[in-house]
Amino acid sequence: MHTQVGIVGAGPAGLLLSLMLEQQGISSVIVEDRSREYCEGRVRAGVLEDGAVEVLTAAGVGERMHREGLVHNGIYLRFGGKSHHIDFPELTGKHIMVYGQHECVKDMIAARLAQGGAIYFDSSETSVHKFDTDKPEIRFRDAAGNAQVLTCDFIAGCDGFHGVSRPSIPAGVLSFYDRIYPCAWLGILTDAPQVCEELIYVHTPSGFALFSQRSETVQRYYLQCATDDDISNWSDDRIWSELQKRLEGEDKPNLVEGPITQKSITPMRSFVTEPMQCGRLFLAGDSAHIVPPTGAKGMNLAVGDVVLLARGLEAYYKKNSMSLLDNYSATAIRRVWKYERFSWWMTTLLHTFDGTIPFDAKVQLGELDYYTSSRAGMESLAEQYVGLPML
Ligand code: DHB
Repeated sequence: MHTQVGIVGAGPAGLLLSLMLEQQGISSVIVEDRSREYCEGRVRAGVLEDGAVEVLTAAGVGERMHREGLVHNGIYLRFGGKSHHIDFPELTGKHIMVYGQHECVKDMIAARLAQGGAIYFDSSETSVHKFDTDKPEIRFRDAAGNAQVLTCDFIAGCDGFHGVSRPSIPAGVLSFYDRIYPCAWLGILTDAPQVCEELIYVHTPSGFALFSQRSETVQRYYLQCATDDDISNWSDDRIWSELQKRLEGEDKPNLVEGPITQKSITPMRSFVTEPMQCGRLFLAGDSAHIVPPTGAKGMNLAVGDVVLLARGLEAYYKKNSMSLLDNYSATAIRRVWKYERFSWWMTTLLHTFDGTIPFDAKVQLGELDYYTSSRAGMESLAEQYVGLPML
C-alpha cells in the first residue's frame, strides 16, 4: 500500500491533517491503534480558539460546531469569594467557542470517511521505519490481523504522548523538557443546567475548581485533587459538596446539582520535545508536547502544528520546496513555548499547592488582583486565551 503522507493516530491532529491534505489533493492514510468508538468517546477539554474555529470551518467540519457550540465572550476568574469578568471581545475583538474535543473528533472522522479516506482503526503492532530515507514506512496489523506495510513520502506522528512515533527517533536526536505538577484534576460531566453563561475559574485556599459547559443541559466541572487520588474516594455527594464550597462568597452562583454521568482524574504535566521532526518523520500535537489542562490549550496547540505541517507539505508537492518542512520544528516550537508558558502560568496562578509559604500565597493573590483589574493585565490574559497567531 502506498500513500503520500502516512499518519499515525486518529486524534484531532491526525484527522485534521488528513482533511487539510485532501483539500490540496495530497493523499494520506491514517493508522490508529484504538477503535473508532474509543476515539469518539475520549472526553477532553472543550475550548476552541477563534483561529482553531476558522481552521476547522475551512477544513469542512464547522457545520455542527457552529450549530451546537457555545460562543463565549469571556471568562470569570473567582478568588477571595468574588468573580471578575475578562471580556474577550472588548479586550481583543475575539471570542472563544465551547465545543467538546471529542465532538470535533466525531465530526472529523465522519467527514474523512465520507471523502472515502482510509482510517485503519483497531490496528496493532504499529511501527514507523526508514524516515531517514525518502521512502518511509508504517508497518502494522490491521483489524483483521493482516500484516500491512504502508510506504509513503512522509510520516506524520500524531499519536499522542504515549504513541510510537516519538520513541522511534534515535537516541540523542531529541531533547525533552518536563514538569510534573503536584496535583491533578477530577473532571465530571453532569446533566444539569448551567451555573453561569461563561466559564468560571476559581481559586480558593483549599484548591482550584473550574465550571465549564457542554450545552444548556450538560455541564463539565473540575476540582483540583491529589495526584495519587483515586476516583473511588469521590462519591457524588463529596464532589457536589466540594464544588459548592469552592464557589462560596459574594454573589455565590446558583450551582444546581444533577446526575453525574462521567468521572475521571487527569494528571497535570508540561512536556516538550525538541526538535519536533527527524528526517521525514514530523511530530504534531501531544506526541511532541503536552500542557497542563488549565486554559484548554492542548487541542488548540495541535491545530497550530497541523496548519504549519500542512502548509509545508503543500509547498513540497506544489512547489517542490522542502524549506517549510525543514523549518517546521523551528517555526512550530516558538508557538509551543508561548503556550507552554501560558498553561504553566494559568496553572500556577489558580491552584493551591501544599507547602506554599505564606509570602508566595500573598503574591499569588496580588497577581490575581493585577490580572483582573489592570487593563494591560487583562489584555495580556485575554490575548493568550483567545489564541496567539498560528503563522
Ligand atoms: C475545559 C477544560 C479546560 O482545561 C479549560 O481550561 C476550560 C474548559 C472544558 O473541558 O470545558
